[in-house]
Amino acid sequence: MTRRFAVVGNPVGHSLSPRIHRMFGLQTGRDLQYEALLAPLDGFVRTLHSFFAAGGGGVNVTLPFKEAAFDWVTSCDEYAGSAGAVNTIVASGGEYRGYNTDGIGLVRDLTTNLGCDLKGKRVLILGAGGAVRGIIGPLLGASPNCVIVANRTSAKAQLLVDRFEDPRLSTANPDSLDHAFDIVINGTSAGLVGSLPKVAARAIETALVYDMVYGENAVPFCAWAREHGAAQAVDGLGMLVEQAAEAFALFHGVRPDSGAILNELRNS
Ligand code: ATR
Repeated sequence: MTRRFAVVGNPVGHSLSPRIHRMFGLQTGRDLQYEALLAPLDGFVRTLHSFFAAGGGGVNVTLPFKEAAFDWVTSCDEYAGSAGAVNTIVASGGEYRGYNTDGIGLVRDLTTNLGCDLKGKRVLILGAGGAVRGIIGPLLGASPNCVIVANRTSAKAQLLVDRFEDPRLSTANPDSLDHAFDIVINGTSAGLVGSLPKVAARAIETALVYDMVYGENAVPFCAWAREHGAAQAVDGLGMLVEQAAEAFALFHGVRPDSGAILNELRNS
């Protein structure tokens, strides 16, 4: 029997998840349906109930419902717990378990696809919103030397850092950073409206710069970073594919060859 899966969001029409999961399905020989499900802003829980009542096997959750998904699931994994956000729900025997695969996806893209071992590295994160909350646990799990959260609104960065209580994690003012980092991650939503987060250029000199958004939205920051001496500047397509691969493994018990699918998407 064909199993049904979906990505739930609002908006969701632009999501690449259906395409990626179908590619994984073909690659691994899994018979599956995967659709984009638009939930009304006030109807996320209703949408989940009807999807699962009709036999749905699992969903991915995207903006703006990741926190609502965390509240709804019956249990969750460590990373969803520390982020307070769920991007994957697996149905099993009337239970709904929540996971957050975003940060694992980022770490896998950095380490496996980009060949960057995080161990001992100095990491700078720009932004302190929901997207950043989801990546801190897995980044710390990869044994960096330090992770600095620099946000336009410093109080928000402090709240986020306090949540994790890890001595390697601290805040800084993005304008007054006076040394270079090994890895700089743009987790702000500035690129979504075509603008740039303000950050001292010194911080990105020689760094691997990573924008968590992909495609056109990542162009301004990546271009700015290259102009100011970044060793490499990449968008977040690999993170998207890797978080999907992790979710696929949770849904189907088999890990796809995500690198091959990432290459196919980059070339298409
Ligand atoms: P998301 O869930 O995508 O992280 P969010 O929770 O609204 O969205 O957070 C957006 C983040 O991008 C915030 O850290 C925001 O900074 P503020 O806390 O100061 O609002 C950051 N951001 C958005 N636009 C920005 C810009 N033009 N420059 C710098 N930071 C920006």
